[in-house]
Amino acid sequence: MNTIKVLDKEFNILLENDNILKRTRLIGIQMNVDYENRCPLFIGVLNGSFLFMADLVKEITVPCEMAFIRVSSYKDTESTGEIKEVFGLPENLKGRDIIIVEDIVDTGFTLSYILKEIYKQAPASVSVCSLLLKPDALKAPIDELEYVGFEIANEFVVGYGLDYNGHGRNLNHIYTVKTVASPLP
Ligand code: IMP
Repeated sequence: MNTIKVLDKEFNILLENDNILKRTRLIGIQMNVDYENRCPLFIGVLNGSFLFMADLVKEITVPCEMAFIRVSSYKDTESTGEIKEVFGLPENLKGRDIIIVEDIVDTGFTLSYILKEIYKQAPASVSVCSLLLKPDALKAPIDELEYVGFEIANEFVVGYGLDYNGHGRNLNHIYTVKTVASPLP
């Protein structure tokens, strides 16, 4: 199906599952070369990365370990802005080779916060693998962003782990929101 409806919005297909899997396979092949003779720890960022992480690690042939973290954000009552918190971060990252697995990097704020927390534990190396990147939305360059599946336009996407208000994570393909053409003045 090329067009779907999730809650109140219509979406058009952007990336077919076959295409996602092919790209994922290539990333996996590259990682197997890059991490030869090492034992990386893959850290998936929930919820969005769960399908990508599952498909990616199936392509990994070097010894590796896996963990998942969750980042929550809540508004501080003192209205000092948005405070984030990382849950589930393993406490033995010293000297480890870390690969953070993300569904999408948008502004990059979430990732920057996760990286800050991980560096506190003095890992040997940190790289980031994100299935999607919206280059036009990125607020600051992220040096660790070593593996990117697809660069996409600055539009809302859903499916293959990504949600719209909690819905659509189960979709096999990735869809982009259908924009309504504004009437001519
Ligand atoms: P960032 O902190 O702005 O980079 O946002 C990262 C997080 O926002 C991702 O891990 C997603 O959970 C969510 N996000 C950003 N863009 C989209 C989108 O287009 N669709 C669904 N979720 C998104």
